[in-house]
Order: sequence, then structure tokens, then C-alpha cells
Amino acid sequence: MNRYSFAERTVHWLSALSFLYAAFTGLAMWSHKLYWLAAVFGGGNATRFAHPWAGILFALVLGVMFRSWAGQMRLDREDREWLLNSHRYAMNQEEGLPDAGRFNAGQKMLFWFQSLAALALLATGVVLWFPEWMPRTLRLIAIALHPLAAIGAIALIILHVYMGIAVVPGAFKAMVHGTVTQGWARAHHPKWLKEKRLP
Ligand code: HEM
Repeated sequence: MNRYSFAERTVHWLSALSFLYAAFTGLAMWSHKLYWLAAVFGGGNATRFAHPWAGILFALVLGVMFRSWAGQMRLDREDREWLLNSHRYAMNQEEGLPDAGRFNAGQKMLFWFQSLAALALLATGVVLWFPEWMPRTLRLIAIALHPLAAIGAIALIILHVYMGIAVVPGAFKAMVHGTVTQGWARAHHPKWLKEKRLP
């Protein structure tokens, strides 16, 4: 059965590519210990040039993702109960947790946090890109916030990739081919399966 349309998968993988490009070029400029990464992107100048453009692309793509998914990512009462008991999910004891719809509450939280991080990265990134036009206070705020937002977003994506590849077999295939089996939907998103079966 279909889980992700071609358009959803295209937007998702564009967000992944632009995020990784922006993250690795950013890390190369952030610490001299990570400067070796710049060699992968064609040297220091190329890295400095590419980073803001990858960031702009990431923010634009997340804007498109936001438009298509925000309505489905609203947290309801069952999601809040799911979040309060999410330690059970982490320990593979999903029985007793409210049934998840198309997205579980953890996936919804990732969506909202990444959307917020993208906004913060875009706003502070533009300040750092054109510092000569910006007041000093704004520059100081951007210097502090930009790496903080980036580290938060990178930590969440590491968790997201781990969940999608190692913890939930079949999820990665869903994001590549667009389809899942009924058994997968019953195990991970039973409410979504029921909704899909309604005439
Ligand atoms: C970098 C490599 C990435 C990999 C390998 C990856 C993998 C996946 C997989 C397998 C799914 C399907 C999960 C399911 O249906 O159960 C998914 C969904 C999703 N991805 Fe990614 N992803 C990556 C990057 C990103 C980035 C950069 C973002 C946004 C900032 C993102 C946002 C989402 C969202 C919002 C969903 C739907 C809800 C969810 O499953 O969390 N992903 N991803």
C-alpha cells in the first residue's frame, strides 16, 4: 500500500541532501578540527560559498514540506498521551500506547522542531551572511544562535536516520519506493491503516 507519494519523497530527499550539504560545510567552518571536511567540498572558498546557498535551498524545501505536511502533523490528545509514555516506545513496548495515525507523535515532534530550526537557521544565517548591514546586537545573537540551532537540528537528524534505518525496518524502503506492507502499517501505524480501509 502507498505511504509516500512521489512528490513527498522528492521533497524529503531534497531536504536530506541540502541539509547534509549545509551541515557538513557548516561544520567545516565551525571548528578548525573539522576543517579537513572542506577538502571534500572543493576547498575553503568553495565551502564558504556553497554553505549559505545550501542553507537557502534547505529552508525553501522545508517550506514546501511544511505546506504539505503541517495539517497532518497537529498533535491531538492521543499524541500527548503517546508522548508522556514515549519511553515505552523507546524500549520496544508499544502495546498499551495509543494507536498511531499516519505519523506518530515522535515523528510529529521531529517535524515541528526541524521546521523551527530551519526558520532560526535561515534568519540567523542571513545576518551572518551580510554582517556589514546588520546592527551589532543582531550579529551577536546570530553568532550564538546559529550554531546552537544547527547542533540541535543535527542531533535530531542523527536520531531520525537511526530510527528510519535501524529501528523501524521497512521505513527506509517506504521513503525510497513509497510503499509499505499491510503488516508494517498494522505494526507501526494501526490508526492510519484503519482510516485507509474506510470506504
Ligand atoms: C539525512 C538522511 C535522512 C534519512 C536517511 C531519512 C529517512 C527517513 C525515513 C526512512 C522516513 C520514513 C519514516 C516512516 O515513514 O516511518 C523519513 C520521514 C521523514 N523525514 Fe527523513 N530522513 C533524512 C533526512 C531528513 C531531513 C533533513 C528532514 C527535515 C529536516 C527529514 C524529515 C522527515 C520527516 C518530517 C518525515 C516524516 C515523519 C517522520 O517519519 O519522522 N528527514 N525520513
